[in-house]
Amino acid sequence: KPSTSSPTTDVKKPIIVIVIGMAGSGKTTLMHRLVAHCHETGKRGYVLNLDPAVTNLPYGANIDIRDTVKYKNVMKEYGLGPNGGILTSLNLFATKFDEVVGLVEKRASELDYVLVDTPGQIEIFTWSASGAIITEAFASTFPTVVTYVVDTPRSTSPVTFMSNMLYACGILYKTRLPLMLAFNKTDVTQHEFAVEWMEDFEKFQDAVECDKSYNANLSRSLCLVLDEFYQNLHNVGVSAVTGAGMEKFFQTVDACRVEYMENY
Ligand code: GTP
Repeated sequence: KPSTSSPTTDVKKPIIVIVIGMAGSGKTTLMHRLVAHCHETGKRGYVLNLDPAVTNLPYGANIDIRDTVKYKNVMKEYGLGPNGGILTSLNLFATKFDEVVGLVEKRASELDYVLVDTPGQIEIFTWSASGAIITEAFASTFPTVVTYVVDTPRSTSPVTFMSNMLYACGILYKTRLPLMLAFNKTDVTQHEFAVEWMEDFEKFQDAVECDKSYNANLSRSLCLVLDEFYQNLHNVGVSAVTGAGMEKFFQTVDACRVEYMENY
C-alpha cells in the first residue's frame, strides 16, 4: 500500500509488536534475536514480558510480569495447576495494565518498537479475557501489530499448514489488528512453499486434495476461506537462530504500521 502523510501517520508513536506462537515455534528465541537486532542497528526497542512462568529469559525486559505477579504463589494461593496459575497471573496483571500503557506512553517519543512476549501456551493469551484486555489497551493507544510465529519445518504438510493458518485466521478475526506471519526456522526449511500456497490458491488446493483421507468438500471450503484471509496478511521468513530476515521483519512491521494508520 502507498504510504500517506496524513496527520495521524505523522504522530511519532512506537508500534507495539505482540509476538504469539504455538509452543516450540521459537517465540522466545525470536524475541531474543529481535531485541539483539534492535541493539545492533540502533532501533529504539522496549521489551515487555507477559509470560509469568518463564524461568530463564534470555533477553532483558523493561517491564516483566514476574516483577509484579509471582506465578508459583498464585498457584498455591488459589489452589491451581500450572495453566490456571499462568492464566490467573495474567488476569491479575491485566487489572493494572493501564499503568503499563502509561509507562510506555511516558517513553513514547524515545521509542520505535515495543516488543511484547506472551505466555508459551498460546491459548492463555489468545482465548482469555485478559489477553483481549491487554491487546485492546495497547491498540487503543498505539499502532499495534500481531506477529504469529510459524514453525516452518513443521508446517510443510498442507493439512498441518491449513490448520495453522486457520488458527492464525481466528486470531485476525478476534483482534482485528494487522497480522504478520513470521515463518521461523528458515535455516532448516525455506518458506517459499508457504508463499506459493498463499499466492496461488489452486496450488494449495491441489496439495490439500492430494491427501485423500480428508473430506474434499470441507477442504475446498476451507481453502476459499483462507484465500480471502491471505489477502489481509503480511509475511516474512526469518531464522531466530541465524538472524536471517531481521531487517525484512522490521520493514514488515513498518508496513503494518501504515495499515493500522489507514484502517484503525
Ligand atoms: P515455548 O518456550 O514452549 O513457548 O517455546 P518457544 O516458542 O518460545 O520456542 P523456543 O524459542 O524455546 O524454541 C523452541 C526450539 O526451537 C528450541 O530448541 C530452539 O533452539 C529452536 N529454534 C528456535 N528458533 C529456531 C530457528 O530459527 N532455527 C532452528 N533451527 N531452530 C530454532
